[in-house]
Amino acid sequence: MLVDGFGRIATDLRVSLTDRCNLRCAYCMPPEGLDWLPKPELLTDDEVIRLVSLGVERLGITEVRYTGGEPLLRRGLPQIVRRTAALTPRPQISLTTNGIGLDRLAPALAEAGLDRVNVSLDTLDPEVFRRLAHRDRLADVLAGLAAAERAGLSPVKVNAVLMRGVNEHEAIPLLRYCLEHGYQLRFIEQMPLDAQHGWRRENMVTADEIMALLSGTFELTPDDPRARGSAPAETFLVDGGPARVGVIGSVTRPFCGACDRVRLTADGQVRNCLFATEESNLRDAMRAGATDDELAERWSAAVRAKRAGHGIDDPGFLQPARPMSAIGG
Ligand code: GTP
Ligand code: 5AD
Ligand code: SF4
Repeated sequence: MLVDGFGRIATDLRVSLTDRCNLRCAYCMPPEGLDWLPKPELLTDDEVIRLVSLGVERLGITEVRYTGGEPLLRRGLPQIVRRTAALTPRPQISLTTNGIGLDRLAPALAEAGLDRVNVSLDTLDPEVFRRLAHRDRLADVLAGLAAAERAGLSPVKVNAVLMRGVNEHEAIPLLRYCLEHGYQLRFIEQMPLDAQHGWRRENMVTADEIMALLSGTFELTPDDPRARGSAPAETFLVDGGPARVGVIGSVTRPFCGACDRVRLTADGQVRNCLFATEESNLRDAMRAGATDDELAERWSAAVRAKRAGHGIDDPGFLQPARPMSAIGG
């Protein structure tokens, strides 16, 4: 088992398969993109599967989420999902994606064993989409969402990051759209993880503000808190339910105390937290011939060193060097 010094057990593995992306969301990266990781530094499909197998078969991982950058840009994704689904015990397998390409890939991914998807959607206005993501791809995202639902990758969850002066006025239309289509919408507080280091606390639309925005139009009833477990989203029944909306208040309502996550970057580094300042290099160990025992020990040690929380409110807080797009959210 992967246990940290505070008794938290990591059972949820988030694997970034690429740091590349076909969007440029302003809360994540600059319009010109970033210096992507060179191919030889990325884990190969076999290396990904070796580490995921180790996690699942030896270290107690029960849920595997593939992320990016944009994971649909990884050519081997269906095969990676298929090999993950063949592990014993079979983990839950999910994907966090911007939805572009899901239109085409959803059936193959479902057939390969993908259980569900979370799709980012911050606006329903093509003009705002272009301004926020610097690409004209809203229609592709909406088509991707619909394809995911058709393929049974449900519950389909939608992630929306609200940015002041950009898309906060869309909270209500976004929720209406998701209710109509049967998607579970979650509003996310913006975190200081953008590559440009442009995050300012005063610009963040907080969980309290999100609740106030929604409460003017919808009746929100808190879900049973015991049902939340380690989920980042606080959920609310909308107008008596059964539909729900979530609020992920990572900054003002941190859930670090219940964290069950550990991350693997596309270049094979274990991160014990989104905000970790240190990583453990499993790729180089693996390429130098480390045994499974040695890799398991290195991985366990990385989790043991996990800090109590993200520390955003600490006086000396420093944003991690690795941006969101290279961690996978
Ligand atoms: P579900 O199991 O479907 O609820 O997944 P999820 O909400 O954890 O995953 P997703 O990739 O959709 O992430 C949604 C938001 O939660 C993103 O902004 C993530 O960065 C954030 N998030 C996910 N895990 C953590 C975490 O451990 N800590 C913090 N602070 N935020 C997280
Ligand atoms: N703060 C909060 N959420 C973010 N995401 C990307 N960057 C940030 C940020 N700075 C979200 C994306 C995606 C998920 C993986 O993380 O919208 O849905
Ligand atoms: Fe791409 Fe996701 Fe970053 Fe947007 S948030 S630019 S979709 S990696």
